[in-house]
Amino acid sequence: MPFYHKLGSIPPKRHTIFRKPDGNLYYEQLFGTIGFDGMSTNSYHQHRPTQVKDIRGSYDVAPKIAIKNNMKSYRLKGFQVAPTQDYLESRKIVLTNSDVNIILAAPQAKTQDYFYKNTDADELIFVHKGSGKFRSHLGNIDFKYGDYLLIPRGTIYKMDFDSSDNRLFIVESRRPIYTPKRYRNWFGQLLEHSPFCERDLRPPYELETYDEKGDFLIKIKKQEEIFDMVYATHPFDVVGYDGYSFPYAFSIHDFEPITGRIHQPPPVHQTFETDAFVICSFVPRLYDYHPESIPAPYNHSNIDSDEVLYYVDGDFMSRNDIAPGHISLHPAGIPHGPHPGAAERSIGKTETEELAVMVDTFKPLMVTEDAMQIADEEYYKSWLE
Ligand SMILES: [Fe+2]
Repeated sequence: MPFYHKLGSIPPKRHTIFRKPDGNLYYEQLFGTIGFDGMSTNSYHQHRPTQVKDIRGSYDVAPKIAIKNNMKSYRLKGFQVAPTQDYLESRKIVLTNSDVNIILAAPQAKTQDYFYKNTDADELIFVHKGSGKFRSHLGNIDFKYGDYLLIPRGTIYKMDFDSSDNRLFIVESRRPIYTPKRYRNWFGQLLEHSPFCERDLRPPYELETYDEKGDFLIKIKKQEEIFDMVYATHPFDVVGYDGYSFPYAFSIHDFEPITGRIHQPPPVHQTFETDAFVICSFVPRLYDYHPESIPAPYNHSNIDSDEVLYYVDGDFMSRNDIAPGHISLHPAGIPHGPHPGAAERSIGKTETEELAVMVDTFKPLMVTEDAMQIADEEYYKSWLE
């Protein structure tokens, strides 16, 4: 995250003596990304963060590919993904390429008896249904409907839910996820024309610090495998940290839409960027105000990117027969556009209540077997008159 955050107790100068009340040293950990060139955080631990007690084994969680080279538009009925007790088991990869996994999850268990760490990917969790507390070794964040939780790779975390009725849309990105560069000045501060600013971002506010020894299972994801690693001390043993790499939340309801006299293109909805895909938020907004404007989008060719739209709420103006939890996939290489009647319907409308998350990937996405379980195979014909 391109701003500085500090939580708990830290010494006045880095890499200097910092003692516990009993006189022993705290253990410092510099957590960096992109070599020593990316964002980093300096944390202070009760125990060495290196005490591996056992590696119980590993198991494969790679997605099973159904369609490798896809030219078909799909509609996936996301809420048909069956709820599953366990948080990690509930995560079903529906679309994938070498940069990103797009995941639907309906976890039921209110917590996990393990900790989780993704070493390969930043995770962006969009909370469609449910609320609770995200807990991590860098502190806790409360979450609810409409929140994006951005979890940088390497964060050790747990998801505590208030109920068993949860629906998550998750983007697992091997490329770092940032706020859009064009909205930041040369120091990284979000500019006046940005649709959100630092005040809207919620970093961890509460640090849980345990001084405990025992057997602590951390499920560590690396290269599409999960390693069951047992550590000798509680992974939430940080007394303080500072730096730029930490999880944070941003509510889609805090995204201020950019509107115009005529139809504004998708980049005005952009919320996050990577060098492999963008993430956009379509939020309730006033429609275009030119007297002759057509608020529905025109047909367009994403000639070199796949477009994934996850429908959250409201009436989606350009689509017929789309419901909350649905995903539409429009592959690169062919045009797509509003359904028959949608452009005409939109004329004269003054506002929309639509709420959706879009992921546009620069490399084509493969469709998984889990996606085919919930796929509408006839969607690609739905523009025929
Ligand atoms: Fe599109």
